[in-house]
Amino acid sequence: MATIASARSTAHDQTNAAAGADGDNRPADATTTPVSESVQAARDYADGALRTAADVPEIRQTTARTLTHTGIIGGGTMGAGIAVAMLDAGLRVVMVEQDEAALARGRARVEAVYDRLIVRDRMTLAEKKDRMSHFNGATAYAALSDADLIVEAVFEDLSVKAEVFKQIDRFAKPGAILATNTSYLDIDRIAQATGRPGDVLGLHFFSPANIMKLLEVVVAAQTSPTAVATGFALAKRLRKTPVRAGVCDGFIGNRILAAYRHAADLMMEDGASPYDIDDAVRAFGYPMGPYQVVDLAGGDIGWATRKRRAATRDPQARYVEIADRLCEQGWFGQKTGRGFYRYVEGARTGTPDPEVLAIVDAERQRAGVVPKPFTAEEIMRRYMAAMINEAANVLHERIALRPSDVDAVFLAGYGFPRDRGGPLFYADTVGVQQVLADIESFADEDPRFWRASPLLLALAQRDATFASLNTPSR
Ligand code: NAI
Repeated sequence: MATIASARSTAHDQTNAAAGADGDNRPADATTTPVSESVQAARDYADGALRTAADVPEIRQTTARTLTHTGIIGGGTMGAGIAVAMLDAGLRVVMVEQDEAALARGRARVEAVYDRLIVRDRMTLAEKKDRMSHFNGATAYAALSDADLIVEAVFEDLSVKAEVFKQIDRFAKPGAILATNTSYLDIDRIAQATGRPGDVLGLHFFSPANIMKLLEVVVAAQTSPTAVATGFALAKRLRKTPVRAGVCDGFIGNRILAAYRHAADLMMEDGASPYDIDDAVRAFGYPMGPYQVVDLAGGDIGWATRKRRAATRDPQARYVEIADRLCEQGWFGQKTGRGFYRYVEGARTGTPDPEVLAIVDAERQRAGVVPKPFTAEEIMRRYMAAMINEAANVLHERIALRPSDVDAVFLAGYGFPRDRGGPLFYADTVGVQQVLADIESFADEDPRFWRASPLLLALAQRDATFASLNTPSR
């Protein structure tokens, strides 16, 4: 259903898209197959977490602004997907691009979504015409003057975004909500490029934006309650799952993802093959393992991000270079026929590659690691401990309002198995004390990475659960 083959951005974003598969949180058999009480409890909790996430203090303090006209800046992967989401919800869209050629490409991307639906008999030509009659394109910011809400989806570069927001500030009408779809950049700094930071917030869509359910509504230091309430009202209109997030590198989802991906890379260097890790993650209930996701999304994108961040990386921290070695060979995953897996003639399912295993082996030797075996259970213990620990940090720093919001993010955007409730629901089923004991034992080998979150320590000390922190809202 959802294809992300054309997606281009950070590896993390694409990981979300792929792992989320089609953005639908409910397995088809949810209502028909009898399940155990514990699975039913996890599903009920998951459904509740997804609902509760839409309840935030701001929507009770103020009313959302009315939305009919939207502006979208950038017609790339995300801009086009967001445009489709808006059009499908009956909103008008003006897309602003750098020049006529880029605008034509942006419009073509929007039309391509509808053309695919027509081919599959899920839309008529007349319906497409109707949707497109609400779409306009422009190469000048003046075209945004009617927009009630503007979403910026240009390149992930702070100076480019700051310049765009300066222009938006000149042309947007007073009271327009100004949103950025940035994945990682500091929204406070983006807001400062305008004279109206109260109207600025993050609306972090996931790829493909017209399909994926998750929408992180990122609240910056000066974002007004009205802007937040409008973000939530938009999500409702788009039939998405909004989750309130604070500003930090990666917000809720991508920040936590970075931690457990790192744990996976460490295990790969320490002795688990990428195939062992993917198998374990799938057996846990995910639709795909992390290295399958890299191959689907394109390894080159994560490689570019790693190169960009090399200068600011902690030189003392372990850095696993295996993925870089594959990229140096031009093995970017499905699109190049090779990545962590081999793909014969455009196949979407890969087969394990002995040459990859040889590279993994060489990297272990280079790093001076004596490989040791990992069982699937050991793999998941580390994978989940890293996820839970970083989730606890996110809560501790108030980036997420409540544990169930973290769970909602992973259920709606990262393919977390609904039958396990969410990462923090799962943490409670394992037991906070046990998770902490695991982290402390892993810290014996790598104390720099495995540092228990202050919140995890506090919960363990009081013998409390993450669920005890779940209130409907603050
Ligand atoms: P992209 O490279 O596909 O598209 C960016 C578009 O912005 C291009 O068409 C470019 O011509 C246009 N553009 C650049 N400067 C512009 C300007 N000054 N005025 C108007 N248009 C301009 O990038 P993509 O993947 O769509 O990403 C856009 C943003 O969305 C980035 O901030 C990215 O981090 C974020 N994002 C990406 C996700 C993904 O999976 N691709 C997921 C979530 C967020």
